[in-house]
Amino acid sequence: AEHFFAAPLLQGQKILLTAGPTREAIDPVRYISNHSSGKMGFALASAAASMGATVTLVSGPVTLPTPTGVQRIDVESAQQMFDAVMAHLPEQQIFIGCAAVADYRAATPAASKIKKSQDTMQLQLVRNPDILATVAAQTPKPFTVGFAAETHDLEQYALDKLQRKHLDMIAANDVSVAGLGFNADDNALKVFTKDGCHELPATDKLSLANQLLTLIANYKN
Ligand code: CTP
Ligand code: CA
Repeated sequence: AEHFFAAPLLQGQKILLTAGPTREAIDPVRYISNHSSGKMGFALASAAASMGATVTLVSGPVTLPTPTGVQRIDVESAQQMFDAVMAHLPEQQIFIGCAAVADYRAATPAASKIKKSQDTMQLQLVRNPDILATVAAQTPKPFTVGFAAETHDLEQYALDKLQRKHLDMIAANDVSVAGLGFNADDNALKVFTKDGCHELPATDKLSLANQLLTLIANYKN
């Protein structure tokens, strides 16, 4: 009799992910950042490794353990995250941008601690590079998946990001719903491709990660 063993869904696939927030220095003791625990990105990295993928996880500052079998690269700023992603991009089949990347950084971070003086102060900010859009603009490009955390008009903004950044898929979550998304253990996602929408109802982030990776693996092939 013949024996058939189903290959794990992501066997032989190389996956690069970003997770967590970035930190943009204002001076040696202060920074600008975003709310992000890194839980969704770490759940995706863990689930992808369990599904047989070779996983590289570029993470901003978070307080999470490295998932088993995952190569982790720690960074702080958006520019460092950009550099780490670009250095590891060749040969990746899938890129998932899960990080809450700071859109702006201080134009000129101070070399020493800024002392308070006036009642108001102004901080000049400059735009950070868009990691996800830069990945999606490469040739050849990996199957590129973005996230969109929105407080309103979720579908419209998600579809706009899918098209504008030339993504293959975008997973949108409504961060105005208490207990879901930011820092929470659970999340719900609306996943858009050019062909339509899949709803992944609220559940824990590891279950959601498994469902999203299954969607990616099936849609990609
Ligand atoms: N992203 C990125 N690099 C940036 C900004 C965002 O890689 N400099 C990625 C995020 O990891 C996420 C996706 O882009 O996968 C969408 O992030 P989001 O902040 O929702 O989109 P923006 O294009 O920055 O638009 P806005 O903040 O104005 O909604
Ligand atoms: Ca943003």
